[in-house]
Amino acid sequence: MAPTSVAARAEELRRLLIAAAHAYYVLDAPALEDAVYDQLYRELLELEQAHPELISADSPSQRVGGAPAAGFQSVAHRIGLLSLDNAFNAAELTSWYAKLLRVLELEPSTELALVGELKIDGNALALSYEAGVLVRAATRGDGESGEDITPNGRTIQSVPLKLHLENPPAWVEVRGEAFIPDSTFAAINAERAARNEALFANPRNACAGTLRQLNPQVVAARKLDFFAYTLHLPNGSDNPSSQWEALQWLKKAGFKVNPNTALLANLQGVEQFCSDWELKRQQLAYATDGVVLKLNELQLQAEAGFTQKAPRWAIALKDPAEEAPSRLLRLSCQVGRTGVITPVAEFEPVALAGTMVSRATLHNANRLAELDLHAGDTIVVRKAGEIIPEVVRVLIELRPAAA
Ligand code: IVH
Repeated sequence: MAPTSVAARAEELRRLLIAAAHAYYVLDAPALEDAVYDQLYRELLELEQAHPELISADSPSQRVGGAPAAGFQSVAHRIGLLSLDNAFNAAELTSWYAKLLRVLELEPSTELALVGELKIDGNALALSYEAGVLVRAATRGDGESGEDITPNGRTIQSVPLKLHLENPPAWVEVRGEAFIPDSTFAAINAERAARNEALFANPRNACAGTLRQLNPQVVAARKLDFFAYTLHLPNGSDNPSSQWEALQWLKKAGFKVNPNTALLANLQGVEQFCSDWELKRQQLAYATDGVVLKLNELQLQAEAGFTQKAPRWAIALKDPAEEAPSRLLRLSCQVGRTGVITPVAEFEPVALAGTMVSRATLHNANRLAELDLHAGDTIVVRKAGEIIPEVVRVLIELRPAAA
């Protein structure tokens, strides 16, 4: 092929493959058969190998590149990553809303629009783009500075390497949550079990461990995903004026925004959103630990401001706790329909996943021996959704001294 047509072909392939990956990973609407994608990708790799000068920063081939790093550099965040205040029930949510109206010096009957988002149980990432190109991916760290994990961030297929915008801003910082979907998490742990390696406790730990992997090839294989939820732009006249508009901006720029996000007109809408998701979260393909409510208008957000560690204009309504401590009262046995005897722990009643619980299964005699329960022990009890309550472990540190 003549040099110009080689360059043109490489450019064409890149455009097609980037669009296909966006359709697949961000829009969840595959546009190209896997085998076709693979073959065109291979053609691009061959062209780039023969003509390395044609490789561009946003080429799909550049998602996994480079040798393992020796370590990660610490980077100061341009704008600090704050935390969120929590509410644990509807009453706390109502009083947060009332306080927000007072801070904004608005009548108690004012209806404020809020955006309801799911609280993704992953790890926050800050992505910096300069002239539309991804230049840095950093972890939250202590909020002031985090770790530069750019090669790992590049492996996340739902993170655009280049913004899908005609005229990208000089810089933009996009924040969101990196996470591992439940099915990928199960596959990772199954592989680890087969290799006799320690299992990850949950998808969030697996994600955190993966982001800090020094070898980007390993990170790419773990298939992280990313939902964008915060946009920081330089001052400009046509910037979004609300969180809702910011989310639309992010979608247009090529990011994946959680589809279960809603613009809520008032507190009533907020309460409905929260109660809907307390149930529906069980059906999601990834873990969440509550919902986040954000004042929609950015101007009002600026007026409401921040406390020491969190914005006054947002709150997380956490899901009811699924684990709690309790004091063991006695052990008993339960005889099943088929005659199987199951040891059961009886303990002081605790609220778990929205219900009061005072008995939990110990599964079998082996588990009973393993836990080595003593009268008066403080135990950790767990009940997730529809799952039968179980005793997770004993807090040995709190065991009463022997008489
Ligand atoms: S907003 C100042 N939105 O929850 C705004 N955070 O407990 C702070 N998180 O550090 C973040 N889903 O890692 C926001 N839809 C969402 C979120 C979300 C998950 C995480 C985030 C944050 C933590 C606070």
